[in-house]
Amino acid sequence: MDNVADWEWFIRKFEIMSKINLTAYKRPQMERRINSFMRTVNVANYQIFADILGRDKEIYRRFLEHITINVSEFFRNINHWEVMEKQIIPSLLKERGSIKIWSAGCSTGEEPYSLAMLFKERRFNLNDKILATDIDSEVLEKAGIGLYTAKAMQGIPNDWQSKYFNRQGNYFRIADEMKKMIKFQQHDLLRDPFPKEYDLILCRNVVIYFTEETKAKLYQRFSDSLRTGGVLFIGSTEQIFQARDVGLKSIATFFYQKD
Ligand SMILES: C[S@@+](CC[C@H](N)C(=O)[O-])C[C@H]1O[C@@H](n2cnc3c(N)ncnc32)[C@H](O)[C@@H]1O
Repeated sequence: MDNVADWEWFIRKFEIMSKINLTAYKRPQMERRINSFMRTVNVANYQIFADILGRDKEIYRRFLEHITINVSEFFRNINHWEVMEKQIIPSLLKERGSIKIWSAGCSTGEEPYSLAMLFKERRFNLNDKILATDIDSEVLEKAGIGLYTAKAMQGIPNDWQSKYFNRQGNYFRIADEMKKMIKFQQHDLLRDPFPKEYDLILCRNVVIYFTEETKAKLYQRFSDSLRTGGVLFIGSTEQIFQARDVGLKSIATFFYQKD
């Protein structure tokens, strides 16, 4: 199982099946996640596992969910959202009047819906729908349905919960008004062309799984997707070490502006 040739064979086979390039992700973590999933289905051999993935749609679906790690939260790291609300967005709006936003790696929708609530509540102007993308079609489907548990609602102020959600038994459904502010779309950051001329891009807790080389390429591509003066908001365990090399400068912790 720890045979290099077997691993490489599996990665190639999986890419043909899924179009997902696992060599761009950090190998030790990815290998651990794949091996732990293989144990749950009682398989210890990559060839047998690839065979199962090819014929069992349910196992394939669960496997994709397992390796893409899609944990999210509303207003994740609230202090950083406060910086965005009080400092970053007002200065972008001062310059532009209305702004264009992309939430890249949006998972089940908590991030773009947090943006939608914030924009509605503060009457900030958007110049288009918020683009919210992810590689995983399952999470996008969940995001589109917008049904969340009471536990998931903890990060949302009470009065916003009643304004922007409808209670359905033990669940809370996001209001259609919020859904209309977002365009969910499948997009692979490693494969698909990047949209352009964004004022604000959020890519948080996505690149942590990528190799350093892949991260550097991605930051360059995000920089190319921003208009001059636009801002990239990253996750709380992330940092862009060579920001200048990709045309970005740090303007607050976790926020980088295109020069
Ligand atoms: C941990 S979640 C982050 C969700 C949200 N941004 C947040 O910070 O709460 C990571 C997401 O990145 C997505 N992802 C992983 N690889 C990707 C890729 N190559 N292209 C686009 N999305 C990817 C996963 O499917 C997952 O939904």
